[in-house]
Amino acid sequence: MTATSYLGKPTSRIEARAKVTGTAKYAAEYNVPGLAHGVVVSSAIAKGRIKRIDVADALAVAGVLDVFTHEHRPELASSDEDYKDEVAPSGSPFRPLYDDRILFSGQPVALVVAEEFEIARFAAALVRVEYERQPHVTDFEAQRERATASKQDGIPTPSHARGHPAKAFEQAAVRVEAEYRMPVEHHNPMEPFAATAVWEGDDRITVFDKTQGPQNCRNYVANVFGMPRDQVRVLSPYVGGGFGSGLRPQYELPLAVLAARALERSVRVTLTRQQMFTLGYRSATIQELALGADSDGSLASFRHDAVGMTSQFEDFQRDFVNWSSLLYRCANSELGQRLVKLDQNTPCDMRGPGGAEGAYAIECAMDELAHAAKIDPLELRLINYSDQDQIADRPYSSKQLRECYRRGAEKFGWSNRNPQPRSMRDGDELLGWGMATGIWEAMQMKASAKAVLTANGSVEIASATADMGPGTYTMMAQLGAEMLGVPLDNVTVKLGDSALPDAPVEGGSFTTSSVGSAIHAACRAVQEELLALARKLAGSPLAGAKLDDVVFAEGKIRGKDDARREVSVADAMRAGKVDRIEKEASAEPNEDSKYSHCTHSAVFAEVKIDEQLGVIRVTRVVNAVAAGRILNPKIVRSQILGAVVGGIGMALHEETATDHRFGRFMTHNLADYHVPVNADVHAIDVILVEEEDHEINPLGVKGVGEIGIVGTAAAIANAVYHATGRRVRDLPITLDKLMRD
Ligand code: MOS
Repeated sequence: MTATSYLGKPTSRIEARAKVTGTAKYAAEYNVPGLAHGVVVSSAIAKGRIKRIDVADALAVAGVLDVFTHEHRPELASSDEDYKDEVAPSGSPFRPLYDDRILFSGQPVALVVAEEFEIARFAAALVRVEYERQPHVTDFEAQRERATASKQDGIPTPSHARGHPAKAFEQAAVRVEAEYRMPVEHHNPMEPFAATAVWEGDDRITVFDKTQGPQNCRNYVANVFGMPRDQVRVLSPYVGGGFGSGLRPQYELPLAVLAARALERSVRVTLTRQQMFTLGYRSATIQELALGADSDGSLASFRHDAVGMTSQFEDFQRDFVNWSSLLYRCANSELGQRLVKLDQNTPCDMRGPGGAEGAYAIECAMDELAHAAKIDPLELRLINYSDQDQIADRPYSSKQLRECYRRGAEKFGWSNRNPQPRSMRDGDELLGWGMATGIWEAMQMKASAKAVLTANGSVEIASATADMGPGTYTMMAQLGAEMLGVPLDNVTVKLGDSALPDAPVEGGSFTTSSVGSAIHAACRAVQEELLALARKLAGSPLAGAKLDDVVFAEGKIRGKDDARREVSVADAMRAGKVDRIEKEASAEPNEDSKYSHCTHSAVFAEVKIDEQLGVIRVTRVVNAVAAGRILNPKIVRSQILGAVVGGIGMALHEETATDHRFGRFMTHNLADYHVPVNADVHAIDVILVEEEDHEINPLGVKGVGEIGIVGTAAAIANAVYHATGRRVRDLPITLDKLMRD
């Protein structure tokens, strides 16, 4: 693709007006006649059985339509396979209202449905549950020694070994051994989880659900309720944030559908903020690192052992440990991870899952090694820079990480750093500068899209994927406008609807590479047909032209080398008696690639710390990102800004505490669960280091959803060390940890 009328241009979100004026509707905002309201009753214990559930008082409340429990519900599927969604880990997925077993605190045990939300909420408080308690295990730290390696769908736990790491460590001139901890975190998107299940009659259901994957949810509902897929439609045209919490179907969805089918009327189920802490979360982690280096800083040995947590019924985990082998050249390495099973709900993906946790520990350990070796932390990264993925044993399709380091350091002023901890000040405050590397796998999934061009010059682009906020609508519109040569305003985008062409969940930073490639293919097919029509015109200036010889711009098909050879799209369609060209196409990743595909970043952070009180402010962050071709620098910058704020939260604020007496997350509201607010967020500079990557996919894009959070917490933690000389190795770095003797 050579024309660049729309790609690479800073472009505002096409749905911005709808969002700021409130016309963009979210899952709980679809009103239909006769809508009933469901409120969930949550388990008060972490493990055991329901001995008795008394719903008489709730049923007696005027306006209550029914109370559903495991004893009173329509039939549900009985095999694990039917509950497995497209991103389910191995194991036996949780089934809401299925039987009397309690698997985690806060598990839904009843759904009260009433004419009004307030009536349902009141009646829900009258449901009496008697439990048979069993001892629960929720203390991750205490269970650490019981961690075991697991297999995810037959794929062993991330692990890797090469060379002789133990011996090399013994002989290394400089050694660092340290253990890093991260707590459980919850995503807390603004929009509550909600499903409005619209009863269409004749066992047909349309659901507006808060989800990152409408087709994933459609298939789940069809499987769980034994319904044909074409009788279920799931829509999520707008999603008020996800961060991974909406990848798997959450229990509001099956509960709303269950009630709607039983009552044969439309039902909405909205979860409370407290109940959103009973969904998935980022697993706590303990990571042990042992790094050995020669006196010149060359890594001699890299060992990384991570422990994560999961539920008793599913093995959820992501890769925490393999990243160092993608970043740093080292002949001797041993990487492994294990899982502790707890009586909690299953963790799930949370922005940068695996990479964000792994990079925190790896990049703090590299900082410790730099100090031990008396080498500048950035210099240490460059000494050990790897052009090879040492696990897959292949080079990268593109890797401009060196350029990220260079431009980031220059913008930040890194060369003015005094390496001595506690040596820099700004008035009463200690000043600290830290840096870290970020990395994420640039994935692509199979996806389909449709492109429709009409003779009046309007274009429609459609694919089932969701837009949870990163700007997918705009990306899709830009591609349609660019490839079919029409103004951006002429492009309509349809997404977030299971009835549209097949697409995966929106996640993993793979939407632009996957859906974008499908749009590219669909638009190419439209172009082919247009060119064929143009060639057929009597005396066509494009006779004999091939698709690669022309561009589509301003409603014209033009010779690439000779702009005077042009045919208007309208003329071509008129002559061919065609008033509409519609093409659907799919794109798949190139499985035979000889290259590894990653995005990279260099993050530089400045902190100012009140010496007496230990209050930390992150006054500056520079994040230089290399993620292939950037289709829209404006929304990509926003994506990185938001992720850096997430990184500040990870470093300094976020933590879900558990009360082990009850086996329950006790941080379950936005007063106690701290996130960065405006006063915590200062200057953030985003540098986009463009990469030309002709191998990865036809658009040359990698995706930027996750990369901005990866490395950010480590850069801040390293800056805190540089400011204070104190190494806090368990996040979040709160002032009590900094002041502790
Ligand atoms: Mo992302 S954590 O794959 O939504």
